[in-house]
Amino acid sequence: MSTFKAPRGTYDLIPPASAAYLAVRDAIAAPLKRSGYGYVETPGFENVELFARGVGESTDIVTKEMYTLTTKGGDQLALRPEGTASVLRAALEANLHKAGNLPVKLWYSGSYYRYERPQKGRYRHFSQVGAEAIGAEDPALDAELIILAHDAYRSLGLRNFRILLNSLGDAACRPAYRAALQDFLRALDLDEDTRRRIEINPLRVLDDKREAVQKQLVGAPVLGDHLCEECKRYHEQVRELLTAEGVAFEDDPKLVRGLDYYTRTTFEFVHDGLGSQSAVGGGGRYDGLSEMIGGPALPSVGWALGVDRTVLALEAEGIELDLPPATSVFAVPLGEEARKVLFGTVAALRRAGVATDFAYGGKGVKAAMKAANRSGARLAVIAGERDLEEGVVQLKDLESGEQTPVPLDGVVEAVRARLG
Ligand code: HAM
Repeated sequence: MSTFKAPRGTYDLIPPASAAYLAVRDAIAAPLKRSGYGYVETPGFENVELFARGVGESTDIVTKEMYTLTTKGGDQLALRPEGTASVLRAALEANLHKAGNLPVKLWYSGSYYRYERPQKGRYRHFSQVGAEAIGAEDPALDAELIILAHDAYRSLGLRNFRILLNSLGDAACRPAYRAALQDFLRALDLDEDTRRRIEINPLRVLDDKREAVQKQLVGAPVLGDHLCEECKRYHEQVRELLTAEGVAFEDDPKLVRGLDYYTRTTFEFVHDGLGSQSAVGGGGRYDGLSEMIGGPALPSVGWALGVDRTVLALEAEGIELDLPPATSVFAVPLGEEARKVLFGTVAALRRAGVATDFAYGGKGVKAAMKAANRSGARLAVIAGERDLEEGVVQLKDLESGEQTPVPLDGVVEAVRARLG
């Protein structure tokens, strides 16, 4: 062990477990790639103001959880705590919205940073795959995104997740609701911090997990009762489209997300095997965000799914992904001459697309065969001096132990035939 450890709240992805993370990322991205979403990559840090304005000055993410830094040049930056503000910033900067084809559909995958209290499923460095559809107000787009996330989870074999759905209203109807909620909350017996929150962001109080608070919230005004006709109609259409596709969801009038930019459709994917950190993904519509960061009006919708928690969900359901073997063939040379020849054979197999590894480090035959077995390979290609004199190598099936000579210049074909 070295003197150093991974920082608190972080962990390393190590083989073989890391393969599942890659597979989860691929599985989430696959339906997006089939649905017109183009890949976008943005820097790991941004001007801190982008998140302050975008995610919201009063959110936990901005007030408590951002990793901020001042550069030597005096710039105030923050490690990105989420992807939506960055992706929208990048789309605006590249004028993608002016190219005429709205919505602009983008997907991304990467690392995010939040200074949270670490626990299982909650880390300071975590990984998301996300999707944003920018510049269109269409319930079919909201439904499309929810269906794509649903399909991604299903393709991984997950069953025990639920979709919580809500509408947070818009600039027309939310202010009146906010005022009604504030009136209700001000009459309750709450601590100072929570009282402050009532004035800044009363909807977040509904999300308070403490039982003493939740008890008092019974009878609180519900946003669903205050939605304007347009928001109601919009939400009804999202619900109808999901139902028509057979995607089950639960109406959750109390669903308030931890970011301030949401309007209308909001949703969360929760998994029942994960304990308190049960949200495996979430998202919604953010019709005002572009204007909040200095852009034109661009109604948009998106989500991000947590890769770490999705892997935990797979474990909770006991799902083993069907991953291709890291190594199919392992080459074992017996002697210096064989080393040179098999080194070339290994390169040829790899070029032919066969996952192949080699006994490096001048191992003796016993240690080399052990390495071959440990690699998980199905076949070993073994050669000694006598084999080379005869122009053959030995192809050994590592499961059955059966060994047959094959011509040196026919190894690739023979291996392919064996692996099917
Ligand atoms: P979020 O709900 O903050 O949304 O994060 C999305 C997902 O990222 C969560 O459901 C969770 O799986 C994962 N996640 C968040 N924080 C952590 C953590 N500390 N440790 C492990 N996993 C975590 C957003 O980030 C929005 N940008 C989603 C969005 C996209 N909305 C519209 N477009």
